[in-house]
Amino acid sequence: MSAAAGTKVVVHELAENPAEAIESNVAIEPQAQIDPETLAPDDVIVAVESASVGWVDLLMTSGQYQHIPSPPYTPGLEYAGTVLHKGPAAVGVEVGERVLADGFLTGPRSLGAHQRWGGWATWTVAPAHALRRIPGPLSFDEACNLLGNYETAYHCLVARGKVRQGETVLILGASGSTGLAAVQLAKLLGAKVIATGRSDDKLAIVRAQGADHVINTRQEGGGVRSFRDEVKALTGGRGVDVVYDGVGGELSLESLRCTAFGARYLIVGWAATPLVAKGKGGRGAPNANTLPTNLIMMKGLDVLGCPTVISTVKDPAIRAPRLAQILEWAERGAIKPYVSHRFDLSDIRAAMRAKWSGEVIGGGVVHPSRRA
Ligand SMILES: NC(=O)c1ccc[n+]([C@@H]2O[C@H](COP(=O)([O-])OP(=O)(O)OC[C@H]3O[C@@H](n4cnc5c(N)ncnc54)[C@H](OP(=O)(O)O)[C@@H]3O)[C@@H](O)[C@H]2O)c1
Repeated sequence: MSAAAGTKVVVHELAENPAEAIESNVAIEPQAQIDPETLAPDDVIVAVESASVGWVDLLMTSGQYQHIPSPPYTPGLEYAGTVLHKGPAAVGVEVGERVLADGFLTGPRSLGAHQRWGGWATWTVAPAHALRRIPGPLSFDEACNLLGNYETAYHCLVARGKVRQGETVLILGASGSTGLAAVQLAKLLGAKVIATGRSDDKLAIVRAQGADHVINTRQEGGGVRSFRDEVKALTGGRGVDVVYDGVGGELSLESLRCTAFGARYLIVGWAATPLVAKGKGGRGAPNANTLPTNLIMMKGLDVLGCPTVISTVKDPAIRAPRLAQILEWAERGAIKPYVSHRFDLSDIRAAMRAKWSGEVIGGGVVHPSRRA
């Protein structure tokens, strides 16, 4: 291997919130090529081609995600690239192979020795069992937006929501990473999709990605407008069978009023109120969201919490069938992550800002440059 210079992003200290992290806690540093002699026998060096810049990556920089990383670490839960080196005990991957990283098993969200090795770097290290061949037709940009987003959508819609053919699903935050995956998945399950968002331009793409109907919920002057009548009109007066809520706040309150009696209300996340937990990894939830119990009771709703990672840690058996199904769908082109924004890794702050401000549709990625 030739001596070469790369770049990596390092978080040395957790910030108060992601906005502060973007401006002050994200260091862009030179990276020397990784010496295989320093690695474990089953370690693999990956030359990163594309790394996703996700919502969870941002929340982790301030310790406001459930899993708090230990600085210094390189962010980048999900990435895709080419195998550059494999240790003598690394099985299942070949040098030169196109691979994607499984963020459950390596990188900042994993639990073992590879937490500091994220994908926002020219090169990174993962244990062989955390890498998978990229399903046939996917590009590197698409591959690093596959697992987390579609596993979330699957866990919520299939495992928890039990969405059936012919049902109507209201997907909130449908232009987001998990939201757009949920749109594709709900269609694949044979459901009718009503998707919400705050921008006509973004919603045009959501529609092109398969949503049957889109609703812009933005109220002039700010906030969320009433859209329950539109949803009722689109469902013959009944309301929807399932709500996929990755947004929270005011939008949840209006969406509860769009449901049929006995509907399933899936709590996926709270993009509108991200600062629920204390900053700097302080834990606790001083700003927790609240839902009206009277509406939940009178409408006979099933409100289902859908934490994909936590549920999988508690019951690892739920993962294999989920993963197999997603990889099979991706292999035959039935699902395909949408990527709207691409940046050089040296522009990581711009990439993070684009995600934090809601400009990104589906996924945003960074491309590390390298000098051979
Ligand atoms: N349950 C799980 O296992 C799981 C897994 C991954 C992520 N999550 C959570 O799910 C949520 C969505 O994640 P994501 O990766 O899809 O995020 P994302 O890509 O940033 O998408 C969130 C979407 O929410 C919409 N939104 C509506 N009101 C908003 C507001 N006030 N501020 C910001 N966005 C707003 C935005 O669409 P418009 O601009 O069109 O409104 C945006 O596209 C997050 O809370 C995340 O932590 C949960």
